[in-house]
Amino acid sequence: MTASKPMRDMIASRRAVLGAMAGAPLLSFAGCATSTNQTALGFVSVPATNADTITLPPGYSWRAVIGWGDALFDTVSATFDLNALTRAEQEQRFGSHNDMLAWFPATPTFPQPRTGARMILCANHEYVSLELAYPSLRDPGAITPAQVEALYAAIGVGIVDLEQRAEGWSVVRGAAPGDGHNRRITPFTPVLFTGPAAQHPWLVAAAAITNAAEPDRGDSAPGAVRCGTVGNCAGGQTPWGTYLTAEENFEEVFASTDSLPALGDAYTDDAISFGYDSTRLPASIVPRHFRLAENPHGPSLYGWIVEIDPYDPRSTPKKRTALGRKKAECATTALTRDSRVAVYTGDDQINQHVYKFISRDRFDPNNRAANMDLLDDGDLYVARFDENGSGQWLAITLAAANAAAETSGSPIRFRDEADLLMRTREAARLLGATPMDRPEDVEAVRDENWRGLGPVLIACTKGYEPVLARPGNPRRPSPTPDAPQTNAAGHVLQLMEEGGDCGAVRFQWDVFAMGGDPNAAALVATTRRGATAHVSTANADGSGVVNTGARFACPDNLLIDSTHRVWITTDGGDDVFADCNDSLLVADTRAPAPRPVNRFLIGPLGAEICGPLLAPDERALFCAIQHPGANGVSGVPYSQTRWTDGAPPPSNFPDGGQSWPRSAVVVVTRDDGGRIGD
Ligand code: FEO
Ligand code: CA
Ligand code: CA
Ligand code: CA
Repeated sequence: MTASKPMRDMIASRRAVLGAMAGAPLLSFAGCATSTNQTALGFVSVPATNADTITLPPGYSWRAVIGWGDALFDTVSATFDLNALTRAEQEQRFGSHNDMLAWFPATPTFPQPRTGARMILCANHEYVSLELAYPSLRDPGAITPAQVEALYAAIGVGIVDLEQRAEGWSVVRGAAPGDGHNRRITPFTPVLFTGPAAQHPWLVAAAAITNAAEPDRGDSAPGAVRCGTVGNCAGGQTPWGTYLTAEENFEEVFASTDSLPALGDAYTDDAISFGYDSTRLPASIVPRHFRLAENPHGPSLYGWIVEIDPYDPRSTPKKRTALGRKKAECATTALTRDSRVAVYTGDDQINQHVYKFISRDRFDPNNRAANMDLLDDGDLYVARFDENGSGQWLAITLAAANAAAETSGSPIRFRDEADLLMRTREAARLLGATPMDRPEDVEAVRDENWRGLGPVLIACTKGYEPVLARPGNPRRPSPTPDAPQTNAAGHVLQLMEEGGDCGAVRFQWDVFAMGGDPNAAALVATTRRGATAHVSTANADGSGVVNTGARFACPDNLLIDSTHRVWITTDGGDDVFADCNDSLLVADTRAPAPRPVNRFLIGPLGAEICGPLLAPDERALFCAIQHPGANGVSGVPYSQTRWTDGAPPPSNFPDGGQSWPRSAVVVVTRDDGGRIGD
């Protein structure tokens, strides 16, 4: 059992295998760069702050581009009244809790152009928070079903045309839905299920109940299910110009029942694994198809990767079941050496896994239509990290999963391919995939032709179960080195695909960056909630420091830019280091080890930082500021103070004054117009 072996032994043996210098990162981006830019970080790291604004290095400015409730069309008022929000209104307004961001050129172009005065911006709207809605509501128990339905419509995806104006990147409002590219996709939008699990009996049962509850408004394609998409966290985009949105914490929109429906062991396992056995929403206020008692298989409609064509506002989003069902975080694509499509996905729950899908067929750069269903056929893999610094992508096949179940004495059996993909997590676990410290975003280093070059980064946001180090999930130097410890500050892993090919089934792995404090006076610190956090950024064998510079915790979204600087956002870092709101940092991959990390942007109070996204010319940086005001400096959630103390929201971002906080996309530019971060 590898998990019980101290990390220092593991690292030592790994170093012996690879012959690397002790203390230095074992894998390097060197040789991958497409630019000769050597001054990777041209700004001074921003000092920690709890200011309720966007804080940037000198010489940079920000402005909000779009926020929750902003009109996408002229058919709704330019003024947003959150107290009067209806579903019909929200379906024509930008959603809340913006997360993943992606841009597309004004017309589908491959490779993507590096200039352009127009773009289509796609944003995920992950979830909603009742305490950040309806300012005039005094009692959460008094919320009406219509108000809840309007809030649900704030989840999903937003698509909006942007153009460069004198004031910078700005929204182009459409005359009406269907005009231009602007669009909202919500939990009520018709979608199609495609691929091997499309006719799974759970899906078929849930689809019938959902479609009976949610009337056809004349926009349902044949076979469509009006379940839309929820839990849209990170995502990705394809080289053929489609947007991928990943459904993460979908259980949160379901009202559970006092007793779980008795629908068999597979159902019970699924409910417990995803947590939809224990949500706290009252059934009386949620739309009928989100009541577990009425739609027990409703949760099977979610947890997928959804592909959206941003160029056609009337296109039907497609849930690509071949990529498996999980709490999907991101769907990052890279072309293999033979031009198939690799899609990397994390499953953000403690002890879940990292996945890679490889399409059966090849990408054709000259025929967009031929690529549109590439994600329906292919092989799904899950990562196993080995002690010696190598790793393997384990093929999730029916035969292998059933054989593994039999060998291990598990009663689980998978009936067919559809069952296997519906219960991807169970199959991955049986096959020996490595349980991870909440794998979130995955990013691959690509060249300008979308070809993966081999390095792949994985943000592991945190691990809150005390365990010993296990491959891929290091632990830090500790005053009690043999005791299990949590991974409160998280880390970023680096893979190197064998032969520099994303189609490989073997890889090498190493730690890219450890969350924590490079200048910590002690190995442990006390978090804002009173827990013990190991905060050294030393590699776990104590022989070296992986990264220096700014301290940070809880890495979430990643961006690798054209010169391979790595941008890292944090989510919940303020729980570990209370003196600084969640931030965006940049790791210099050119400098010798230990790797310098500078803090570039600090968000407002209570917000996690998402995106991030560089404009085509890298002279503008977009960030999604999610749930400002979810907590204040003390860390106490606003959900605990709003209803009891009547406290005003802890943040007034982005509108300032005494305004109600809203999730918003901001754009950062350099005052001299230069490239961001240089
Ligand atoms: Fe939605 Fe795992 O962050
Ligand atoms: Ca989030
Ligand atoms: Ca995330
Ligand atoms: Ca997160």
